[in-house]
Amino acid sequence: MNHANSASPLTARRSGALRGRVRVPGDKSISQRSLILGAMAVGETRITGMLEGADVFSTANAMKALGAVVERTGDRAWRVRGVGVGGFAEPSGALDFGNSGTGCRLMMGAVAGCPITVTFDGDASLRTRPMRRILDPLELMGARTLEVRDGGRLPVVLRGARDPMPIEYEAPVPSAQLKSAVLLAGLAAPGATTVIEKEATRDHTEKMLKHFGATVRVTALGTHGRRITLDGQPELEAAPVVVPADPSSAAFPMIGALIVPGSEIVLEGVMLNPLRTGLYTTLREMGASIEMLDGRNEGGEEVADLRVKAGALKGVDVPPERAPTMIDEYPILAIAASFAEGVTRMRGLKELRVKESDRLEGTAAMLRVNGVEVEIEGDDLIVHGNGRAPGGGTVTTHMDHRIAMSALVMGLGSEQGVSVVAVAFIDTSFPGFAELMRLLGADYS
Ligand code: S3P
Repeated sequence: MNHANSASPLTARRSGALRGRVRVPGDKSISQRSLILGAMAVGETRITGMLEGADVFSTANAMKALGAVVERTGDRAWRVRGVGVGGFAEPSGALDFGNSGTGCRLMMGAVAGCPITVTFDGDASLRTRPMRRILDPLELMGARTLEVRDGGRLPVVLRGARDPMPIEYEAPVPSAQLKSAVLLAGLAAPGATTVIEKEATRDHTEKMLKHFGATVRVTALGTHGRRITLDGQPELEAAPVVVPADPSSAAFPMIGALIVPGSEIVLEGVMLNPLRTGLYTTLREMGASIEMLDGRNEGGEEVADLRVKAGALKGVDVPPERAPTMIDEYPILAIAASFAEGVTRMRGLKELRVKESDRLEGTAAMLRVNGVEVEIEGDDLIVHGNGRAPGGGTVTTHMDHRIAMSALVMGLGSEQGVSVVAVAFIDTSFPGFAELMRLLGADYS
């Protein structure tokens, strides 16, 4: 991340129709996990389609500091030579995860099963985010928190367990990062480690653990929950990883095309894992035209090319149980809701308060400063859409890439344009965002 230019502003102006065919970068969750599991496996893992963004670079550096060999071998092609489960070496300095909650939290789990002491740190945004939710189960497994800042914040000094114990843990919050941390710690424990989720969250860790040779059993629990059990102390073996295009990144050009009249774009190879596609379900309910073309399987995930056409949208009620399947997509959904006719109520968004910024407040502020009527009621966000957004505002992004991209999409359909401060954070998940949007016809300067 180039913090030197993180304050540079960018303005999005009302644009002509967006047109073209593009592929957004690789999925962030899968890219992060490929480095981490590659580092915990024996042998050489080859990764293609990697997201080459700042969050992934932070994790790559952490893997090297722990003794793995990580190399870029070509365009989005990487190689990891792992150290095996329990084989991490104690790093000489703190691990700096920058803006990345996923890298930091998953690695706390991975380290918890090794008898080493590691200092975890990050940027000003990551230092505000809650880590207690991760440390609690890891302590039950035998890890010790030697230092932590007030309120369970970074920097954290964690001493991994010499003899980690398996646990059965009911997650108090729906979080794939929490689930993954417990499962990664469970790799080094004898016997079965179980995580119970009342609401299923993205399952990339479970899938990739199986791909690397671990035994993972998943059973349904009630209507929305899952019980996930990992057999401890497997020999993880290196396996190739193909990273599909990130559905959370695809959301930005997709909504740009929905709100700019006359647009028609194709987004290539987008992952359609059902635990990631709540946004697409919601947009269809709003009346959006999104066609899935050439559905196929890539690297164990269903993918398709998505053809998106502009058209009228209507307000909808988004149920709280859908939140885990679209948790990163509410800021950009709020933009679609602004351009829709009628009220959109997004329910049960408590977790948005602890993302890269307080995204509930940040999303409301972004709309308000651009003339859209919006309210927060408890954990719900209510957007009063009237088919247009006046714009004219400057959005402060609070080090949050998704707020920055959402505001830059809003500007394309707005009357007076939208300016965004601190766009450099976009590089955490979507390097080349402005260039890709310009290729489609976006007016950014
Ligand atoms: C992620 C899980 C989600 C999501 C984040 C990526 C992951 O966080 O917001 O961008 O890769 O596991 P939570 O687990 O905190 O919901």
